[in-house]
Amino acid sequence: MQMPHVQDRMQKLVSLAKRRGFIFPSSEIYGGIANTWDYGPLGVALKNNVKQLWWNRFVHGRNDMVGMDAAIFMNPRVWEASGHVANFADARVDCKKCKSRFRADHLVEEATGKSVEGKTAEDLTQIIGVERIVCPSCGAHEFTEARNFNLLFETSIGKVEKDKSIVYLRGETAQGMFVNFKNVQQAMRLRLPFGMGQIGKAFRNEITPGNFTFRTLEFEQMEIEYFISPRDDWGKIFALWEKEMAAWLADLGISKKNIRVREHAQEELSHYSKKTIDFEYAFPFGWKELYGLAYRTDFDLQNHMRESGEDLRYTDPDTQEKYVPHVVEPTFGVDRTILMLLLEAYVEIEGGRTTTTESVKEEEVVLRLDKRVAPVKVAVLPLSKKEPLAQKARELAQMLRGYLAVQYDETGSIGKRYRRQDEIGTPYCVTVDFDSLEDDKVTVRDRDTMAQERVAIEDTKNYFKENFGMFH
Ligand code: GAP
Repeated sequence: MQMPHVQDRMQKLVSLAKRRGFIFPSSEIYGGIANTWDYGPLGVALKNNVKQLWWNRFVHGRNDMVGMDAAIFMNPRVWEASGHVANFADARVDCKKCKSRFRADHLVEEATGKSVEGKTAEDLTQIIGVERIVCPSCGAHEFTEARNFNLLFETSIGKVEKDKSIVYLRGETAQGMFVNFKNVQQAMRLRLPFGMGQIGKAFRNEITPGNFTFRTLEFEQMEIEYFISPRDDWGKIFALWEKEMAAWLADLGISKKNIRVREHAQEELSHYSKKTIDFEYAFPFGWKELYGLAYRTDFDLQNHMRESGEDLRYTDPDTQEKYVPHVVEPTFGVDRTILMLLLEAYVEIEGGRTTTTESVKEEEVVLRLDKRVAPVKVAVLPLSKKEPLAQKARELAQMLRGYLAVQYDETGSIGKRYRRQDEIGTPYCVTVDFDSLEDDKVTVRDRDTMAQERVAIEDTKNYFKENFGMFH
């Protein structure tokens, strides 16, 4: 059971996300569509900043990594070879009375509080019977047997019925990297070990209890396939990637107490994995998977080699020995990263904060987002919208726009404008006041420390360059 205050926290975040242009329910004017969300102007900026940071760190920042951007559509044989057509499934049950559909494992876990990871559809049917679990929607205990449903979305290419052939929307970005292993290795003349990084959409036909963007039908992944020799100590490389993933989270400022690492039990492992750990985050609705790290062995390359008939072996340039590389795979969900960042950053200040210009009495929300990912970096606020003050402020905003994301706001009291910026996590507010007309200086206010500094307009560019480390 979720505690009321937990619901409250999520509801507040969902409401803020919509009200301030981060995340909207998809196709809302038509009543929406389950488990699908749209990123608004601030959401897309936040997401792009996170992806850029990840790319800079894991692709540009390493001499053993290269980037990729594979197509979403692939030859359907890819998904047969990868095992997804046969194995990528969830067990589901229907309530015979009210026709609601549930993931069987989620239904049991919600009702019993116990993990049933790795249980088969038959096991779950039995548990539902023994525990006399009832439908959360109507209270009846009249479920169908649990049956496996494949998570891959099917669509078709071809215009007329007889020419149509089934294709899948990719269920993970990883396969685009496996099938390009030889292309990339040869084109870039890479020696093992090396990795490919890719950011892109993946699609899964999920039914979910609706925890905002946590589990959606389409989502983005930032994935790395790290290719190693079968002679390498995979355990050591796995441990190094575990450290890298933890360091990424620490760099984003995520509280240690909200992260834990959980190793999958044998029966819970995906069809391709020999060892998997999940980085879990303490979401308001419980500890849930944030990221994964898996040792996929040579499972994928062997399967693609067998099914395609192509030789995907790597030739050791020193010994001329040929072998199929093994893979360690760190995978990061973009949308779960965004949800985590918003939850971590969301702070309510009872009674508000006192600014030097206005005392704020009611509750105030501050999003303490990392400066590098904040969607708006600087807000330019003229103390009055009268000329020539507003003109001076507009000119400053336009100058800064060449370097970073700027919002110009002249409406409402200055205190209200500060609060609007705090609520979207803008790290700096720049106020252009009447003195600015005389001394060509502005007041820069720091979101977190509330410290105010007088800075010459001509120095603002360098001031922010220093504070952000680089321009985003
Ligand atoms: N290539 C390995 C792979 O896809 P996964 O654990 O199934 O592994 C990786 O997915 C990550 O993608 C997860 O850790 C999670 O962050 C994200 N993810 C998976 N399914 C998701 C969904 N339905 N909605 C949002 N994010 C999802």
